[in-house]
Amino acid sequence: SESGEKLRTSFHFQPARNWINDPNGPMYYRGFYHLFVQYNPTGPHWRNIVWGHAVSSDLLSWVFLEPAIAPSAPYDAKGTWSGSATVLPDGRINLMYTGVQVHGRQVQNLAVPRNYSDPFLREWVKSQLNPVIVPGAGVNSTEFRDPSTAWRGADGLWRVLLATKDHRRHLVLLYRSTDFTHWSAARRPFHEGHTGMVECADFFPLSSAGSVKHVLKISVLESRRDVYFLGAYDDSTDKFLPDDGNDDGLQLDFGIFYASKSFFDPSRRRRVVWAWAKEQDATADDEQKGWAGVLAIPREVWLAHDGRQLMTWLVAEVDSLRTNRVHIADMTIQSGDYFEIAGLQLPAQADLDVEFQVSNLERAEPFQWRAAEAADLCAARGADVQGGVGPFGVWVLASRDLRERTAVSISVFKADERKHMILFCNDVSNSSYSDQVDKHNYGGLVQLDLAKAGGRISLRTLVDNCIVEAFGSHGKIAILSRVYPTSAVGNKARAFVFNKGKSTIVVSRLDAYDMASVKIS
Ligand code: FRU
Repeated sequence: SESGEKLRTSFHFQPARNWINDPNGPMYYRGFYHLFVQYNPTGPHWRNIVWGHAVSSDLLSWVFLEPAIAPSAPYDAKGTWSGSATVLPDGRINLMYTGVQVHGRQVQNLAVPRNYSDPFLREWVKSQLNPVIVPGAGVNSTEFRDPSTAWRGADGLWRVLLATKDHRRHLVLLYRSTDFTHWSAARRPFHEGHTGMVECADFFPLSSAGSVKHVLKISVLESRRDVYFLGAYDDSTDKFLPDDGNDDGLQLDFGIFYASKSFFDPSRRRRVVWAWAKEQDATADDEQKGWAGVLAIPREVWLAHDGRQLMTWLVAEVDSLRTNRVHIADMTIQSGDYFEIAGLQLPAQADLDVEFQVSNLERAEPFQWRAAEAADLCAARGADVQGGVGPFGVWVLASRDLRERTAVSISVFKADERKHMILFCNDVSNSSYSDQVDKHNYGGLVQLDLAKAGGRISLRTLVDNCIVEAFGSHGKIAILSRVYPTSAVGNKARAFVFNKGKSTIVVSRLDAYDMASVKIS
């Protein structure tokens, strides 16, 4: 449909039509990035799930191939669900995925390339030994899925993680193998908690300043949140111990960012994470559009200097899509004022990189909430309620009369004598005239020593028709939102900088870019 076409992304990953959800088995292999994705080849809703397969040499343009894995056997008749790729030291590849059986039992299966001399690895063969992991006695057999990428311990054994739950807890289970086909369960759960079913466990090491930490990420089904724990892992005991004070987990992104999966990119020596950005419109609208589901732009992740959180940033390749540039420096915005970022050809498809400078810090209100209340604070105050310092930020996908607009906002609060709490919000409450879409505001907090930072706060906002990805404080925080403008679409959308706070602020630097479209064929 026409509205479906206008809302389609221009440089985010999505197939020509139909439904996608989780990214699966991302990997880099002999010059190509491979991405698999939960895909319904028959329509824009979650059903008939196969592993869609796409390859790329730059993480931006993709060739969408035939599905790599589809239901064909008793061990996956009802669905080929999420899983991961492991590239073995000798160069062989194993995909491990969840197969759903006729009565809903979930088992884990392997598939390998048919022909390694095909650079695209188009055909995949299921193992004759499938299923290779079945739910053991006492394990909830209908909630037992999403094998992680495997890793090898000093003892030479392979390990994978699976997510499940029992009547009280969610569980991440560890399985070990000598040969990747015969697996046995570890006696103790690798991780447990009380959030209900979790999905898509991801586990990887990161190092900063010589010290190594491990990251365990789980996707919490009920809250639809990806949560990670930083901690220490000992491969002789297979114990993962989250750091002190990290029991509730942290978020890489505070918005619509689910079922994320990372891979190590040996060509650029970086850890890259993919995630699913689910539709927030009505199912009927998806039928109209003919498509549903977008993937977030792949992000690099690394450990913050203090080792206490992950940092995240768009992969550098994205910068190559920047075309026309608009530059502004040292522009003062009085309380209540705003200006349009003029000179962009197509603000609906743009990269806005802004550095704000705040003064009058004595006007910042004291912060009197808990960090966990950030989203509520964004819902209650959004980008329109005047504060001492802020909210200020950008309006994107905005109509000429500004009645339809998505705000990415910053509000400054005082935490203690030296530190400030910076609230970042994606305020989507005015993002669409449609009342059929979820207009929930999301946000998070960053603690900053603003005096030390010279009063500067950075905000990068990537806009792509129906998706807004915001990055605050150079990657300390990210918030992804899905939006459905009805009038601020295509070449009618505009972009502005605003200041709704009591204090004057300065845009010390703004670089805005039109973004080229990518090819997905
Ligand atoms: C996460 C998830 C996975 C499952 C897949 C099915 O979104 O529910 O747990 O394997 O999607 O498509």
